[in-house]
Amino acid sequence: MSMPTALRYDGKVAVITGAGAGLGREYALLFGSRGASVVVNDLGGSFHGEGASQRAADVVVDEIRALGGTAVANYNSVVDGDKVIQTAIDNFGRIDILVNNAGILRDKSVAKTSDLDWNLVHDVHLKGSFMTTRAAWPYFKKQNYGRIIMTSSNSGIYGNFGQANYSAAKLGLVGLANTIAIEGQKNNIFCNVIVPTAASRMTEDVLPELLFQELKPQLIAPVVAYLCHESCEDNGAIIESAAGWATKVQTVRGKGAVLRTSLDTKVITPEYVKSVWNQVVDMSEAKHCDSIQEASMSLMKILENVQEGRVGIEDTFNFGAKDLVLYALGVGASVKNNDDLKFLYENHPEFSPLPSFFVMPGLLLSMTTDLVSSALPGSSVELTNILHGEQYIEIVDDLPTSGKLTTYGKVFDVMDKGSGAVVVTNCDSYNEEGNLLVKNQSAIFIVGAGKFGGKKQPIQGVIPLIPAPKRSPDSSIQYKTSEDQAALYRLSGDLNPLHIDPSFAAIAGFKTPILHGLCSFGYSVRAVLAKYADNNSSLFKAVKVRFVSPVLPGQTLKIDMWKDGTRVYFRTSVVETGKDVITGAYVDLKGAGSKL
Ligand code: NAI
Repeated sequence: MSMPTALRYDGKVAVITGAGAGLGREYALLFGSRGASVVVNDLGGSFHGEGASQRAADVVVDEIRALGGTAVANYNSVVDGDKVIQTAIDNFGRIDILVNNAGILRDKSVAKTSDLDWNLVHDVHLKGSFMTTRAAWPYFKKQNYGRIIMTSSNSGIYGNFGQANYSAAKLGLVGLANTIAIEGQKNNIFCNVIVPTAASRMTEDVLPELLFQELKPQLIAPVVAYLCHESCEDNGAIIESAAGWATKVQTVRGKGAVLRTSLDTKVITPEYVKSVWNQVVDMSEAKHCDSIQEASMSLMKILENVQEGRVGIEDTFNFGAKDLVLYALGVGASVKNNDDLKFLYENHPEFSPLPSFFVMPGLLLSMTTDLVSSALPGSSVELTNILHGEQYIEIVDDLPTSGKLTTYGKVFDVMDKGSGAVVVTNCDSYNEEGNLLVKNQSAIFIVGAGKFGGKKQPIQGVIPLIPAPKRSPDSSIQYKTSEDQAALYRLSGDLNPLHIDPSFAAIAGFKTPILHGLCSFGYSVRAVLAKYADNNSSLFKAVKVRFVSPVLPGQTLKIDMWKDGTRVYFRTSVVETGKDVITGAYVDLKGAGSKL
C-alpha cells in the first residue's frame, strides 16, 4: 500500500476566528503545522461575550511559531469582519481559508431571554460569520479560490432547552452556508458546515464525564482541515464530527400526500387534511433534495400527475415470475393440465400472467392504507367488518411478466345501504414508463357503517353488473379446490386471517376459515380464458364480478358461461351446496380464441 500524499497548505492563508481557545485553537495549530500562514483571531472575552483580551490570540500565535509555523494575531470581534480579513491581507497579501468558529453562549429559556441575550449571540455567530465572509469574498473571487467553514450546532439542528437564541443563530448559519455554496460555486469558492461536539469551556457544564473526556477538539480539527483542502470537492455539505467520528448530515423530505384529485379542486377541507395526515408525516420514503430547483421540480411532477389523473394514495408493487406462478397455483392452475404450463413455468415460450393477478396492486393498496376508512370518517373499518362486494379489472396495456407498478388509489363513490356502507375505490396502476397498465375498481361493504344519511345509488362511472342471460349456459367448467387452497392463495398477498385462522374466522361469524372471494374469481377468469380464449391472456380485456356468498376450501366450483360476441357472461356456484358465489359477472375479450 502506498502512502497517501500529505495534505499540505503551503502558500495558503487561513483565518480562524475564535482561535484563542477550544476548537479554533486546534484548527489554527493544525493549519500552522501543515504550511499555512494563520491569522489567529480572538476577541478574548468571557464566553458570555463580555470583555476582551489580547492574551488568548497571542498564546496560540506563540504556540504555532514555537512549532515552526507562521501566524499573526487579530483581536477584533468578528462583527468587524473587514478588520479581521484586513489582517490577513496586510500580513500575507491574500486569504484562502476562512473558518468561522468564534462563539459565545447566553443560555436562557425563551421567556427569560433578553434583547441583549438574543442580539449578542446573533451578532457573534450569525452576523459575525457573514461579516468576515463578505469581507473575504472579493479576494476569493479574484483568485478564483476560497474555502469557507460555518460552524453550526446540534442545538440548532435538533433544538436544545434553554438555547433559543443560540439554536436560531446556529441553524441560521446552515441557511447562510447553503446560499454561499451556491453563489461561490462558479468561482471555486466552497462553503461547508461543521457541526462539532467538543469538550470546551462551552460544554464543560452540560456533558457527562466520560463523553466530556473523549470529546477532544483535536479529533475534529482534521475533518475541518480536509474540508478546507483544495482536493476536497464537497460544497454545501453539513458534516457532523465528534469523538473521532464524522458523518454527513442532510435534511430530508417525505413523499407527502396529494390533497387534490384534479387541478379543478379549488377547496381542500381541514378534515381531508386530517384524513391523510398519516401520509403527510410518513417519512419511510423520505429523500434529500439537492437543490431548490430539485425541490420545485418534484412539485412540478406532482402537478403533472394531478393533471393526468395520477392522484390519490400511492403505493408501489413489485412482482416477478415467482409471484405470477404462485398466484396461478393459488387459483388452481395445475401441471396436470398441459395448457396451464404457460402460467406455471417461467421458461415456457409463452410464459404469461393470469390477467386476474393484476387485482393485487389495488387490493394491497386498499388493505395497507387508510383508503377505505378515509371515506367514512367516524366509522370503524376493520378486517372483521368488511366484505368484498364487487370487483372490476380492466387491462389497458400489454401485460408484463415482471416489473414495478405505481398505483394511485382514490375513493370514487360512497353509498349508504342502511345495514352498511359501500365504498367504491378506483386504483390505477402505472408501469415504470408511466403508462397506465391496469384499472381496478372495488366495492367494499362495511357492515354497520350505514345510516349516515348518504345516497343509495351509485354515481356514473361505477361499473354496473349485468345479469347472465336467461337461457341455459353455453358451457360449464368445474374445478375442485383443495383444502389448502386459501393457505396457498393468501401467499400472493391477501393475508387476512379470516382465510386461515379458525378463531379469527369465528369472530367474523364463520364456522371455519373461508376461501378468498378473489380466489374463486381467479378460478372463474381462468375458466373463461380456457374455454373461449385459448388460455391466451393477451385476449383478456376486462372482468366484473359480484361476490354473493363464501366458498369453503375443498369445495367444487362450477363456472357457467354464456358467450355473446366478445363478452362472456358467467356465474360461479358451489357444486356441493348449489349456492351461487359470483353473479352478475362477465369477461370482455379483445377477440375470440380458436375454440369458438
Ligand atoms: P470556546 O469558547 O472554547 O471558543 C470560542 C472562542 O471564540 C473563544 O476563544 C472566544 O474568546 C472567541 N470569541 C467569542 N466571541 C468572539 C468574537 N466576537 N470575536 C472573536 N472571537 C470571539 O468554544 P468552542 O467550544 O471551541 O466552540 C467553537 C465553536 O464551535 C463555536 O462557534 C461554538 O458555538 C461551536 N460549537 C461548539 C460545540 C462544542 O461542543 N464545543 C458544539 C457545537 C458548536
